Amino acid sequence: MRILVVGGAGYIGAHVVKALLEADISVRVFDDLSTGQKINLFEQAEFIENTILNEKALEEALTDVDGVIHLAAKKAVGESMTNPEKYALNNITGTLNLLNAMTKKNVKNIVFSSSAAVYGTPLYPKVDEAHPVNPINFYGFTKLEIERFLEWYDRLKGIKFIALRYFNAVGYDATGAIQGLEKNPQNLLPVIMETIVGIRKKMFIYGTDYATPDGTCIRDYIHVSDLASAHVLALNYLLKEHKSQILNLGTETGHSVLEMVERTEQLIKPFPHENAPRRAGDPAQLTAVSHKAHELLGWTPTHSHLDNIILSTWTLYQKHFLKS
Ligand code: UFG
Repeated sequence: MRILVVGGAGYIGAHVVKALLEADISVRVFDDLSTGQKINLFEQAEFIENTILNEKALEEALTDVDGVIHLAAKKAVGESMTNPEKYALNNITGTLNLLNAMTKKNVKNIVFSSSAAVYGTPLYPKVDEAHPVNPINFYGFTKLEIERFLEWYDRLKGIKFIALRYFNAVGYDATGAIQGLEKNPQNLLPVIMETIVGIRKKMFIYGTDYATPDGTCIRDYIHVSDLASAHVLALNYLLKEHKSQILNLGTETGHSVLEMVERTEQLIKPFPHENAPRRAGDPAQLTAVSHKAHELLGWTPTHSHLDNIILSTWTLYQKHFLKS
């Protein structure tokens, strides 16, 4: 079996490639290296450097392929609101090129990286797949539109899909096999790490007056290695059951921003932080109900314990920035 991993040089993509190789699946990576990095590539996987805006290149890459895992996307929520054109082109047009190329090459299976951002502001704190979808940023809108295209390509062209709605992806591979740090990160844990190693003077806690026990926002942090294993299971499900699904991927446990800060200080060392006003568009709490992935795929997160998330990230930051 050969799988095309589109966006396989990125943060989540590289973890997915590693999990596929460990399952003895042949991998071909397709990535334009705009945010993906060469350092994330594996010798055992083929590599094609090209963009999903090039449909012909996608068609060639799909030769002798049994399925696709599609993770190539722009994903900065703030930027998607100021530069929606970039998100429309790369996320929506790029995915349509991929689906059209799959149609031409008769490839019928795709696992798609979707996001909890499709839900928008939760109507209730623990979100299941039946929760109404109502994105509040353009990034989430692109993910939802792609899910809708996937439903139509299933109906009209027989392409079966699994859309995986990730909650907050964090952590790094425990064996140190994946070395690439995201450039210019905006997410909580990388910002904390950059503060500890001195790249940032301090970190800001955005909002301390939310209706949560300690006043800071609660999120469901899922380790990338757990996300990666879900992709392998999803692929096997598709090849066996030939049935499309939409699945949440989260731990079903929430941690507040303050809890993340305090636990990191206990595990590593104190660092400067300051309370700041709320960040626009942040819901107070976003945690998953993830029963469906467990029931259909047999998926259970095993790497997502809070200490493991913090320490696996710290190990890599130490390696990059605190070389003795
Ligand atoms: N936060 C801070 N200070 C920072 C950075 C973040 O207090 O410097 C807070 C945020 O306000 C939020 C929490 O930490 O309350 C988590 O923020 P992240 O930016 O790490 O993650 P988000 O929950 O905003 O979004 C992430 C991804 C999205 C995805 C979403 C799905 O970035 O792409 O999870 O749950 F859609």
